[in-house]
Amino acid sequence: MREQLSEDLLGWYDQHARVMPWRVGPAARATGERPDPYGIWMSEVMLQQTTVAAVRDYWRKFMAKWPTVSDLAAAEDADVMAAWAGLGYYARARNLLKCARVVAADHGGVFPDTVEALLKLPGVGPYTAAAVASIAFDAPATVVDGNVERVIARLRLIETPLPKAKPEITEAAEAITPQDRPGDYAQAIMDLGATICTPRNPACGICPWSTPCLARAQGVQAELPKKLPK
Ligand code: ADE
Repeated sequence: MREQLSEDLLGWYDQHARVMPWRVGPAARATGERPDPYGIWMSEVMLQQTTVAAVRDYWRKFMAKWPTVSDLAAAEDADVMAAWAGLGYYARARNLLKCARVVAADHGGVFPDTVEALLKLPGVGPYTAAAVASIAFDAPATVVDGNVERVIARLRLIETPLPKAKPEITEAAEAITPQDRPGDYAQAIMDLGATICTPRNPACGICPWSTPCLARAQGVQAELPKKLPK
């Protein structure tokens, strides 16, 4: 049952994964190619509070200018801040540089591959640690961002309002995360939330999880997740 959920989502992802410059596509993956942990970390920091469309060109620019984490660590602060201009939330750029310098100085320029070790890096919280561990290293870590909260609240009919529902949603999300292909699964559930299980007018007719979705069975998908008024 639980394997069926991840299998169905991975099957959908194999057909419908969004193309992003930091992703390894199906053909390259079949040859054993893995994503560059530095590039994945960079993309995840940039994607916090910023859309995929806006991030694409910045990610390419950063990777061209500073191809390795050690190159970034050696950059001048002002050059990095200038390259970041337009992306917003400048604390992210300062943390990016701080983190790069710790990885270069304390980890020999090699990103750690566990959630626990990643969490110790500057600017890396539970979401980013899980995203890098799963996507870059295929560790069975569970990403929970706004997209995942919405998908899981609907799938499991979690009616507790956010933010109180967070632990319940995290537990439900962890229970579905597969041991097989956890990195693809993490990207798949975020893509599902971004393209099908959208806040308004979710496209349930083409959703790989429409049959098991408890919210859909009751017709309340558009009302979840509930949120406490701010
Ligand atoms: N949003 C943030 N990171 C993402 C990823 N790796 N895939 C899809 N959506 C995302």
